[in-house]
Amino acid sequence: MPTYRIAPSILSADFARLGEEVRNVVRDGADIIHFDVMDNHYVPNLTIGPLVCEAIRPHVQVPIDVHLMVKPVDRLIPDFAKAGANIITFHPDASDHVDRTLQLIRDNGCKAGLVFNPATPLHYLDYVMDKIDIILIMSVNPGFGGQSFIPEALKKIAEARQRIDVSGREIMLEVDGGIKVENIAAAAKAGADTFVAGSAIFGKANYKAVIDDMRAQLATV
Ligand code: DX5
Ligand code: ZN
Repeated sequence: MPTYRIAPSILSADFARLGEEVRNVVRDGADIIHFDVMDNHYVPNLTIGPLVCEAIRPHVQVPIDVHLMVKPVDRLIPDFAKAGANIITFHPDASDHVDRTLQLIRDNGCKAGLVFNPATPLHYLDYVMDKIDIILIMSVNPGFGGQSFIPEALKKIAEARQRIDVSGREIMLEVDGGIKVENIAAAAKAGADTFVAGSAIFGKANYKAVIDDMRAQLATV
């Protein structure tokens, strides 16, 4: 069985109690904290920046996975690295120089990755696989939590998995959007190993029950 990782998205957490929320979700089994950054420009919503990343950093030991839904991208990267990010991903269509942005993330000591919207082709990976630590497949259009999983994402996950296998490199394959207990196994079967879930976890009273149910589903794959 591959190493599966559950990455709760704090977009659906109670922002007035964010430190407690991240501590609780890690206590209840989260492997990664997924941190959604939206700029009201690349996506039609506005969320949180490096200050909030820095504020939650002392509360958890697990990696913080910063998903940048911003344009331009580069200026924020050193700020997030200083704020304690471990993984930084961005949308290739939001950067004029994808190779440079990937290198900048790695030069700042973080794992780097590209994010693919539902209609964005994977060919952005063609010449940069050696600089990729993580591929994130969006299974909703970015900008909001609580949307429904777009089933076509499964095909793209499978295609990304093939690319990873061919590369022979250790690259995480993350899926983000509409992931629930009911569809996590399908995403894993397609080849995903890292699962972002916002509303499915933070929208419920008992985080541990949801995360345990997700792991039980993954164990059937
Ligand atoms: C959407 C964000 C997701 C979002 C997922 O733009 O990238 O991380 O929080 O939320 P759910 O799991 O509710 O679809
Ligand atoms: Zn996200």
